Amino acid sequence: MKIADLFKVEGHSVVITGGASGLGLGFAEALAENGALVTLLDIDEARIAAETRRLTELGYDVRGEVADVRDHPALDRAFDAAAAAHGKIDVVFANAGIDSGIGYLNAWVGDKRERVPEGAIEHYTDERWERTIDINLNGVFATCRAAARHMRPRRQGRIIVTTSLAGLTQEAVIGSAYMAAKAGAAHFMRNLALELAAYNICVNAIAPGFFVTNIGGGHAHNPKTQETVAARVPMHRVGWPKDMAGLALFLASPACDYITGQQIVIDGGWGLGVAD
Ligand SMILES: NC(=O)c1ccc[n+]([C@@H]2O[C@H](COP(=O)([O-])OP(=O)(O)OC[C@H]3O[C@@H](n4cnc5c(N)ncnc54)[C@H](O)[C@@H]3O)[C@@H](O)[C@H]2O)c1
Repeated sequence: MKIADLFKVEGHSVVITGGASGLGLGFAEALAENGALVTLLDIDEARIAAETRRLTELGYDVRGEVADVRDHPALDRAFDAAAAAHGKIDVVFANAGIDSGIGYLNAWVGDKRERVPEGAIEHYTDERWERTIDINLNGVFATCRAAARHMRPRRQGRIIVTTSLAGLTQEAVIGSAYMAAKAGAAHFMRNLALELAAYNICVNAIAPGFFVTNIGGGHAHNPKTQETVAARVPMHRVGWPKDMAGLALFLASPACDYITGQQIVIDGGWGLGVAD
């Protein structure tokens, strides 16, 4: 067998939450292009219909379904439907997530970082805290549980959680619930990796730095924002969903057979500190 064969995902059944946009869509394209059978789950009905159609027209084997990671019984049913359609579930990306809104600093653009009253802890609403935890942490739990229900009996699988550089370092411009949810998701991922290791199920996480996606209303599409962030990133550029392709393929494939419980940062060196 050639080493390149280790990266083959042809015929693997893959489920991706938050798969209709941004990083999830990037994972879908990378896997589908390599012959995987992909199910996109997303809350955004219009986008999931459009992306499923687009990817199918490219000749990929992709199906899409509306599913909210906060509705755990519906999520379980969507996983059952994916397994029924593709015969099994080999790989799951627990990726759906939201931006929790403004932090106590507001400064994506320019160097001046100003404190903003609505981001201060005294004004941080229960609704905002709970919504972020519900999607970014509880949703990961429910997705991984649904995945394990399908994978453990077959004694094989790959679960990949999208965490964030913000779960490792602090970023004041992102609301504090996001930090807690992402750090919690990473620690949960490690515990799950421990539990499922004996069943040949690898559980790992991808921790992105700054990627241009539609998160938070699409603020990352602003060229000024990209310029400001790129100046701070040691590689002097922001990330794009296509930058995820290699890592997504690696973590989904037999190439990562003996790797579990790891969080891989993909950030152009941003988390290392100031380079120049
Ligand atoms: N973009 C970045 O710079 C960045 C950095 C670090 C981590 N992340 C994480 O990457 C993941 C993907 O985000 P993205 O940047 O691609 O954003 P995005 O908004 O482009 O995509 C996220 C998708 O998740 C879906 N979604 C939101 N709530 C959902 C729910 N309750 N149930 C099902 N689907 C839901 C959205 O409809 C959207 O299609 C998130 O977990 C996010 O926290 C992103």
